Amino acid sequence: MTAGIDDIAIYIPRLYIDAADFAKARGVDPEKLQKGLGVSQMAIVDTNQDPACLAANACLKIMQKNKLSPESIGRLYISTESSFDESKAMNSYVIGMLEQVYGQGAFEHCGGVETKFACVSGSYALYDNANWVRAGEAEGKHALVVVSDIAKYDMGTSGEMTQGAGAVVMLINDKPRLLAFDPKVTATSIKDEYDFYRPFGKETPIVHGQYSNLLYMIQVRKALETYKKKALASGLMKLEAGESVLDHIDYLNMHLPYSNMGKKALAYLVRHEWRQLPRWKKIIQEIGLPEPVPKDPRGTIESVLGDQEFMAKDHEFTKLFTKTSEFQEIYESKLASSLIASKMIGNLYTASLYLGFRSCLEFEYQRGIDLNGKRVGFGSYGSGSSAMVFSGLIQPEYKEIVKDMNLEAELAPRRKLTLEEYEILHENKLTPEESMLHTKKEFILVNVNTTVESMGERRYIFNE
Ligand code: COA
Repeated sequence: MTAGIDDIAIYIPRLYIDAADFAKARGVDPEKLQKGLGVSQMAIVDTNQDPACLAANACLKIMQKNKLSPESIGRLYISTESSFDESKAMNSYVIGMLEQVYGQGAFEHCGGVETKFACVSGSYALYDNANWVRAGEAEGKHALVVVSDIAKYDMGTSGEMTQGAGAVVMLINDKPRLLAFDPKVTATSIKDEYDFYRPFGKETPIVHGQYSNLLYMIQVRKALETYKKKALASGLMKLEAGESVLDHIDYLNMHLPYSNMGKKALAYLVRHEWRQLPRWKKIIQEIGLPEPVPKDPRGTIESVLGDQEFMAKDHEFTKLFTKTSEFQEIYESKLASSLIASKMIGNLYTASLYLGFRSCLEFEYQRGIDLNGKRVGFGSYGSGSSAMVFSGLIQPEYKEIVKDMNLEAELAPRRKLTLEEYEILHENKLTPEESMLHTKKEFILVNVNTTVESMGERRYIFNE
């Protein structure tokens, strides 16, 4: 049975900081953010918003747009790494908010959990819900899979340059208008790692950024290897001599902790895939350098990172490789459009891959490309660490959805924060009533209880 993404909606907070202002305040060259990382603006939550609010606002949008009744929703899953309770799942808060609009008990029949595995958990949630549909358990109902996060790092750290916030919701069913998942090819890799983690009670993560970047690429490559085996074994793809699996994928959407990470990961995967192919000889000639090899043939992540000579040479080689016409072609045609939204919004952790998917659809459509039947590959990564690679085909009805996508309009009106305002928000110095925007027609957080008997209880309203 077919299963896939029928529609997608986003909710992005309307406050943001500008990369140039931020760089100036931190004494960093603005080019590092804009060119080095691909960050132009970072969305910041207001004092009366938390990840559950973002998720509920995204759900309301997709339900209203598709005129969905609560009875038609069989499952509501939330994936996040910004969880604020160790026990009560974030989807229960979201159901509570939605029932303020649809009536108490309106979602009583609905099931779902909050899932966690850093930024990859949304992909596991999508896979599980697609399998719920494929198994015939959905009985004609839809699943809502929401990815919602606030990417927040300690002030003054290098991670602070890669913040952002927002939620993406996907409507999953057996007649998807946007994308039908390719069956029997979803591939995963997993390893116990400490590249990025957030111990209980800590609001911000502990990050080993460069380690995490490399681990991301290694883990996604491993999952891609498995994907390739599955795609060939299942007959989804047939590789002719000299072809790579990437030749059979029209668009690649990667996890985007910052937009340039997509380019880095693409270069890594393409190098890995092309190395054995005849075309590589010509590329090496064009680059004018042999591809560097680490001293330690075991190639563990620690030995690679510790091999400074290799790292420096590899960095130089990658830079030259990304300038070749062959890489430029694959970058422009398969990846670039998925990076546009990330530049304007920043890191959304679990949601960043799916914001990239939405960005790819909107901006490829605007380029006048017929997307019908195009294959989209997804490279999902979560620290700690696990990767998932899967794919799907864009469906004939896609235009119904994509023609109305307008990121700029959806972000507006945005308000730029001064650095002082941003720092006050970052340090949680204001209460929900001291909101900067007082937005209307949205779910907002009103209060977090601090009494001993009801500690942490949250109250939300739909702000008419
Ligand atoms: N002009 C243009 N580019 C510049 C520059 C300048 N003045 N200064 C630096 N750059 C480039 C660097 O060359 C580098 O590019 P490259 O990746 O192509 O080599 C890029 O900007 C980043 O610089 P770097 O020195 O590597 O940054 P950093 O070590 O200070 O921090 C991160 C970068 C991404 C590691 C850090 O922001 C971080 O940890 N973020 C969190 C990442 C995350 O969430 N990871 C989770 C797992 S996915």
